[in-house]
Amino acid sequence: MTANSVDAAVGFVRENRARFVEELKALLRIPSISTLPEHAGDVRRAAEFVAAELRCIGMENVRLVETSTAKHPGGHPLVYADWLHAAGKPTVLCYGHYDVQPPDPLDEWKSLPFEPEERDGNIYARGAVDDKGQMWMHVKALEALMAAGGGKLPVNVRVIVEGEEEVGGEGIAAFVREHGDQLKADVALVSDTEMFAPELPTLCVGLRGMIYTEIEARGARTDLHSGMYGGAAPNPFVALAEVIAKLKDADGTILIPGFYDNVKKPTDAELKAWKALPFDEEHYRETEVGSVSLTGEPGYSVLERTWARPTLDVHGMPGGFTGAGAKTVIPARALAKVSMRLVPDMTPAEAFAKYKSYVESICPKGIVLEVRLIHSGDPIVVSTDNAYVRAATGAMREVFGTETVFVRGGGSIPIVGDFERELKTPTVMMGFGLPDDNLHAPNEKFHLANFYRGIESIVRFLASMGA
Ligand code: BES
Ligand code: MN
Ligand code: MN
Repeated sequence: MTANSVDAAVGFVRENRARFVEELKALLRIPSISTLPEHAGDVRRAAEFVAAELRCIGMENVRLVETSTAKHPGGHPLVYADWLHAAGKPTVLCYGHYDVQPPDPLDEWKSLPFEPEERDGNIYARGAVDDKGQMWMHVKALEALMAAGGGKLPVNVRVIVEGEEEVGGEGIAAFVREHGDQLKADVALVSDTEMFAPELPTLCVGLRGMIYTEIEARGARTDLHSGMYGGAAPNPFVALAEVIAKLKDADGTILIPGFYDNVKKPTDAELKAWKALPFDEEHYRETEVGSVSLTGEPGYSVLERTWARPTLDVHGMPGGFTGAGAKTVIPARALAKVSMRLVPDMTPAEAFAKYKSYVESICPKGIVLEVRLIHSGDPIVVSTDNAYVRAATGAMREVFGTETVFVRGGGSIPIVGDFERELKTPTVMMGFGLPDDNLHAPNEKFHLANFYRGIESIVRFLASMGA
């Protein structure tokens, strides 16, 4: 691509900004909540919306790939597209996800989660930044390059967009294992992470893995009157509280035997680079977390604790009586949803085995425990010493006028590990979210300036890879 046609593509983006936002709003209106079965139809509608646009901009072989199998029922479709006519040029695999998290608690949203609204330079909606807005940047960058190139792209492109990232991404993992050849590429581009700070272009070079589990505790055969049976019948909630209290100590150190065995220390160079990042712990506590103090393992900085150390959290304990008022019942069963974030070189299988046998070993009297794995994903640190990373930092320097910082992310995108390990495809994680974009929380937003800068960065990245 000539410098002129890069300018033409960037010009196209600038002229069409308003339309791009309107299209994104239409996508954001579809409540594609992958974890709720009653939204399966909406999830499919979102997939079709994305597929229709990919067709419209000139991508080829656009199709939905079904992921529902006997082993994985109720799977949501993948959207695939390609354009492979740039002979001799590299192939880029563009990845994103069109599914979103549930919007609750609803009463904390200033505008409705599926009625996108622009306020002070942001677009507010569930999925605005995670990941519909960021995935749309890819689609719009491709559209701009197609328009400026007379229907041609500077590189070969494959697009894969999944609809179950937020529930573990099993469908895409199976597709990668079984049909990896259909995703063959030189590099994968993922825009589903954050910038370290406003105005600071960022590449994410590592993600934590995870195991998401449920512990079910069963006591009596059926719910019992707590006056008649209290003192004799075991209580599954108290049992789960006992178990959970033994998973971590007061400092936040995980007590599962051997859990830290394979934790790899970040390199000295990484630790040094993290120390140089503009990070104010007190500001973070006050504005991002909003608690009276921070917690976690002593001797590790916040960035180390959230990027390079494993953690354990409890998400909810369904069961029993949670209505208004009082009900005197000893529930027959109770559930705890417990997840652990993993870091290199931990494996989900080993972490789960250690966790399960520890939980079983501390099972309170009178209780039967069942420990189940819901989903898991590998931790990953990607390579940074390659031409793709240099193309990415070069593209972002043009757009932001400043050097890129390298960070890790505490979150998980399970398929990135599979891109690296199964497909041997290096991955560039170029994300444009902000720390206060409220992903997974009420009032999720995407800063529109970053939406535009993201599109331009991707245009320049793809163009420079084809140069
Ligand atoms: N986009 C996030 C992951 C993320 C967020 C990475 C911020 C880096 C920085 C992704 O959509 C996500 O939320 N993933 C889930 C995955 C899980 C359900 C397997 C997560 O991290 O909880
Ligand atoms: Mn995401
Ligand atoms: Mn998410």
